[in-house]
Amino acid sequence: MTATPALPLLVINGPNLNLLGTREPEVYGTATLDDVHALTEARAAEHGLTVDFRQSNHEGELIDWIQEARTSHAGVLINPAAYSHTSIAIRDALAAVDRPIAEVHISNIHRREAFRHHSHVSAVADVVIAGAGVQGYALAVDWLAAAVRR
Ligand code: DQA
Repeated sequence: MTATPALPLLVINGPNLNLLGTREPEVYGTATLDDVHALTEARAAEHGLTVDFRQSNHEGELIDWIQEARTSHAGVLINPAAYSHTSIAIRDALAAVDRPIAEVHISNIHRREAFRHHSHVSAVADVVIAGAGVQGYALAVDWLAAAVRR
């Protein structure tokens, strides 16, 4: 039997992801953020892990949460949303976290507008998942579960 790590995974959702389910459903699907929370929690539980699931529309709050992960979480799953493409501050905060980091995008950002093709976060993430829909969160949890045990 595997020991359960004491620390939860930190799952961070950036701006406008509180609107999932009603926001551009043709791009992001119909699952709500509560649905994503439930699926992430369920997949983590399969690995004997818990999640600390959060969403904010505010860059500074996201940065404060990322800094918490330095001591309080086993790994980080982040969908930085539009801040992926603009925020060097979020990139720098993640670079200071010595934990496994997975970046998730619901949509395939590379098939969309040119301004979405570059993510500042990708250079500091260990894994990047884009285009798998909300299922990408479950895939990221699978990877993080293995990574936190290494
Ligand atoms: C997103 C992609 C971003 O370009 C966009 O700004 C989002 C969501 C995604 O999950 O596909 O808000 O991160």
